Amino acid sequence: MRTEGDLERFFERLAAKWHEVPASRLERTSTRVLVSATDEDALAAWERARADTSDGIRGLRLRGWFHAVYGPWAAGKKILEVGPGLGIDGVALACAGATMTFVDVSSTNLELVLRVFSLKGLGRPESLHLQRVRQLDELATDYDAVMAFGSLHHIPADTGRPEFEALARRLKPGGRFIMHAYPFQRWIDEGQLPFDRWGEKTDGAGTPWAEWYDADKLIEQLRPTVFASVLYCEYRDGAMNCIDLIKVDGVPGLQQPAAGASAIARAIDVAALSVQPGWRAVATVDGSGSVLVTTPEEPWAYAATVPVHVDRIPADHTRGVVRVRATVRGGRVGFGIPAGNGAAFVTEEYLARDRHEHEQECFLEFDLAANPAALMIVRNASPSAGRSQVVVHSLDLFSL
Ligand SMILES: C[S@@+](CC[C@H](N)C(=O)[O-])C[C@H]1O[C@@H](n2cnc3c(N)ncnc32)[C@H](O)[C@@H]1O
Repeated sequence: MRTEGDLERFFERLAAKWHEVPASRLERTSTRVLVSATDEDALAAWERARADTSDGIRGLRLRGWFHAVYGPWAAGKKILEVGPGLGIDGVALACAGATMTFVDVSSTNLELVLRVFSLKGLGRPESLHLQRVRQLDELATDYDAVMAFGSLHHIPADTGRPEFEALARRLKPGGRFIMHAYPFQRWIDEGQLPFDRWGEKTDGAGTPWAEWYDADKLIEQLRPTVFASVLYCEYRDGAMNCIDLIKVDGVPGLQQPAAGASAIARAIDVAALSVQPGWRAVATVDGSGSVLVTTPEEPWAYAATVPVHVDRIPADHTRGVVRVRATVRGGRVGFGIPAGNGAAFVTEEYLARDRHEHEQECFLEFDLAANPAALMIVRNASPSAGRSQVVVHSLDLFSL
């Protein structure tokens, strides 16, 4: 169990390291030194760092691509950047028309960024020297985006969770959480070191921590605020990734299909999932009432079926939704409701195994006018021959 005290001590360790920030592709510079340089020298060093990582065809592969894609989007937006370093991205976003706020564990990083803003005539952005996580609650809650370029993956996920949660609360509904971190595959390729040792390898001596992230892991880390993935990409030959999430809480068009619908009690009994004669599949109930389904090897082969009491949907309702909660152990599975005449599926959704093997959700939506059969089918949706396996935890019917 981590405490706020652990988090504050980790902020101190991060501050002790991270006044040394990336200056060019290969070099780091200390803002503790840079803040005592003359305006002219500080700006010249800053400009060299900016040009080396942003300009031309070479720069496109580092920061340039992000400025090209997100610069036009940033105009008029209110952006909270966590860990700006020298502020190269923050200045680019401000020049594109964003109003910036900067949060950093290092006071000299912030001092330098504010000085560069002033020297460039960009005004005085809001800033926060982060020493205690509660300070984040002093910031507004109407940001369009939180951006963290190479910062938040340098804190252990469990220790840093309150920081992630507090940042998520700063976003308005529909706001974006955009984090640049290290990809899972890089961690594999570099020997799967414990994260307290990997940091020294990725970022040099004294780096307390480096951890991989992907979209699923970041979505988990930001709970209880609910996010969905907008974009995931890797760049710098797989050394970095960009994870762009949207805060779905409070956005009417992004609510789950079952939100606001009426639940129909006991319309589907998970334990009744069973294999039909001739299907080369297995379905077994475990101690918690979930059912483990192992599909046949052939793509699209049927594995199990369960009755769905569509007849219990009130007469004045026109649509049904089945919520599936399941953990995919291997491959990819489809959940579908066929038409009453068996000719086709009126609705089908797919779940694939992800690297965390965590519980997932999908929603089967259908019009009653499409004459759905009173049953759901689970089948193998893996494109390559091979069995898929899924633990089905719950199946719930809703109508509206
Ligand atoms: C590797 S540097 C990246 C700097 C800059 N974003 C860039 O792309 O060059 C990490 C930055 O994040 C800050 N930082 C690291 N961990 C942080 C945390 N948990 N919260 C806030 N700032 C953090 C550091 O002080 C530093 O400014």
